[in-house]
Amino acid sequence: MKEVTIHDKTFEIFLSSDTIQATIDELAQRMAKEIKDKNPLFLVVLNGAFMFAADLLKRFDFNCEVSFVKLSSYIGTQSTSIVREIIGLDEVLRDRTVVIVEDIIDTGITMANTVPKLIKLEAKEVRLATLLFKPNAFQKDYKIDYIGMKIPNDFIVGYGLDYDGLGRNLPDIYKLKS
Ligand code: IMP
Ligand code: MG
Repeated sequence: MKEVTIHDKTFEIFLSSDTIQATIDELAQRMAKEIKDKNPLFLVVLNGAFMFAADLLKRFDFNCEVSFVKLSSYIGTQSTSIVREIIGLDEVLRDRTVVIVEDIIDTGITMANTVPKLIKLEAKEVRLATLLFKPNAFQKDYKIDYIGMKIPNDFIVGYGLDYDGLGRNLPDIYKLKS
């Protein structure tokens, strides 16, 4: 599909499924090199990162654990500074290498709030992996360890990302048509 209409808005194709998969291939190789001997605990941030996490973790053949947490700070097409608590974290993080798996880092506010909470739980180290990063929207200065792709400031949907609840199921990523 070249275009999709979701609610009141039209989106045009931005990243094909093939491009996304090639990005993840390359990212997985970089990550594996550094974390394969650390028995990492992947903390997948729901809902947006579910597809990315499934495709990323299938590429790893070393021992690792996976858990899912929820936190949401996003309403409509604009990021807000409302950050909710981490829900669903029942693993002991003490002395673990924790890798947060995110769909996208936009303003950076969500992770700026989340990482310190995980460090407080005595994780040995907390690394950040995100499929997409919007450098021009980023308001923070922390390090993002693994970035799949840097993208412009467009609002996007598909491959886990939603616009008011819809679009997560799409295998490709679309951007808001201007
Ligand atoms: P941040 O706190 O601004 O970095 O926002 C992070 C969260 O906002 C991401 O995990 C996404 O769930 C959501 N988000 C940011 N940009 C987009 C977008 O373009 N489309 C859909 N969701 C987005
Ligand atoms: Mg998210």
